[in-house]
Amino acid sequence: MNEEQRLQAGVIKSSTEKLHPSVEKDYSKYFETVYTPPSLKEAKRRGKEKIEYHNDYQIEDRFLGMGTNRKFHIRTYGCQMNEHDTEVIAGILTSLGYESTDNVKEANVILMNTCAIRENAENRVFGELGHLKPLKLENPDLLIGVCGCMSQEESVVNKILKTYDQVDMIFGTHNIHRLPNILHEAYMSKEMVIEVWSKEGDIIENLPKVRHGNIKAWVNIMYGCDKFCTYCIVPYTRGKERSRRPEDIIQEVRHLAASGYKEIMLLGQNVNAYGKDFEDLDYRLGDLMDDLRTIDIPRIRFTTSHPRDFDDHLIEVLAKGGNLLDHIHLPVQSGSSEILKIMARKYSREHFLELVNKIKTAIPTVTLTTDIIVGFPNETDEQFEETLSLYKEVGFEMAYTYIYSPREGTPAAKMVDNIPMEVKKERLQRLNKLVNEMSAEAMKPYKGKTVKVLVEGESKRNPEVLAGYTEKSKLVNFKAPREMIGKIVNVKIIDTKSWSLDGEFIEVVEEEKVMS
Ligand code: SAH
Ligand code: SF4
Ligand code: F3S
Repeated sequence: MNEEQRLQAGVIKSSTEKLHPSVEKDYSKYFETVYTPPSLKEAKRRGKEKIEYHNDYQIEDRFLGMGTNRKFHIRTYGCQMNEHDTEVIAGILTSLGYESTDNVKEANVILMNTCAIRENAENRVFGELGHLKPLKLENPDLLIGVCGCMSQEESVVNKILKTYDQVDMIFGTHNIHRLPNILHEAYMSKEMVIEVWSKEGDIIENLPKVRHGNIKAWVNIMYGCDKFCTYCIVPYTRGKERSRRPEDIIQEVRHLAASGYKEIMLLGQNVNAYGKDFEDLDYRLGDLMDDLRTIDIPRIRFTTSHPRDFDDHLIEVLAKGGNLLDHIHLPVQSGSSEILKIMARKYSREHFLELVNKIKTAIPTVTLTTDIIVGFPNETDEQFEETLSLYKEVGFEMAYTYIYSPREGTPAAKMVDNIPMEVKKERLQRLNKLVNEMSAEAMKPYKGKTVKVLVEGESKRNPEVLAGYTEKSKLVNFKAPREMIGKIVNVKIIDTKSWSLDGEFIEVVEEEKVMS
């Protein structure tokens, strides 16, 4: 295929986009490759390109029916953003005529929507790709694709090209809307189809979605991240910060409310930067929350907050309560100001504590949860102790805890690290012990109290028992008729555990609809 034909087939975006030199040199036969590796220099230089909005997404007629009598299976790794991307991918595949299947053996398209945040996340995907190879021999119509954050990494693409010839397609996080073209190309060609765009400034509305369930829904409010914490790969894999227009978000939430959803999770890697990129509008997360709280939907949450951009107006709006829930996930990463500095988090321990105080004063009932990294290069015992003491001082009720994992291309990966792995593991254990104890403590006062629970379904362990979450995201197990699934109900807590509550069903909450 010559370049003109490739452009017509939509395989590459434009002939002026540069190939990464290593790809060009080693893999020049893969003409489809449009690839830029994560590069700090390049990424930090970004931001000049205008954000383009596309409101007219449509699947071309020539692709309709491509999935007739074919099934797809998607494996999703990583964060809620990826889970939500999977809903869009499923939406596109369904529009093409594919049917979903839980059984990989009967799938004609298998996609791995991957996460690059830590090395073990990546290893799991490579392991899984190995397991899929025999399926390729059994089913000649099978296409295997890798998408999500790993596909944005140069080393991953090269490794797949070299060792995983069972893979037919690799496409990036900015290329999801191009899936029909990518599939078409994969059916036509014997070569691996790779489409990973470096262009990251676009927002594409109206993408079809097949949502997971009909109780809780994810809604993207922004994409990308410009924070460049020194350990983190996300700014490279997800591109620059760009916010969806308020009217599009409000319309989507209204529509979900009208369709009967009970809870909305607003998504972004750094939601507190929402609106910073608007040139024509002075409208930030506080304004958005203030508009959304008037919508007739019982629960609205958001994730993830960066402490740096958590402004007073947002706190003021959250304090209005109603459907804006009093649980805030506020990743701190470390309790040591020196470590925070080399992580480039752009706040100190003292700033963080000040912010927590402000939030607690405005919202006295607030529950705070967090993310913590232990064993950052050269973290001393004292610095780690500061993380433990901060955790206690804030009174966090839950945390996701991680051992630092170097990510190629990030500044921290170049830092010399003299902390042995056993020490890191020991720190993680000590931290987890504290996290467990403080979660158990936070559960105790619930005994005898009545809480509102959004019932999500059967408990994972016992189908006789239903399970759901309180407004503060506590898991509650209780017996009740199955008709309660999808409703908000009152449950009296009779027993507390470290990570969950056991209760007795009382009744359906009368005014399921909370209004300001
Ligand atoms: N945008 C979110 C974080 C997304 S990643 C935020 O800033 O809060 C989720 C969590 O993974 C991070 O909060 C951090 O605790 C952890 N993480 C990110 N990069 C990591 C790395 N290289 N090693 C270990 N943990 C990491
Ligand atoms: Fe990564 Fe979050 Fe930092 Fe962005 S704000 S660089 S996503 S840890
Ligand atoms: Fe992982 Fe990408 Fe999310 S790296 S955590 S899937 S943004």
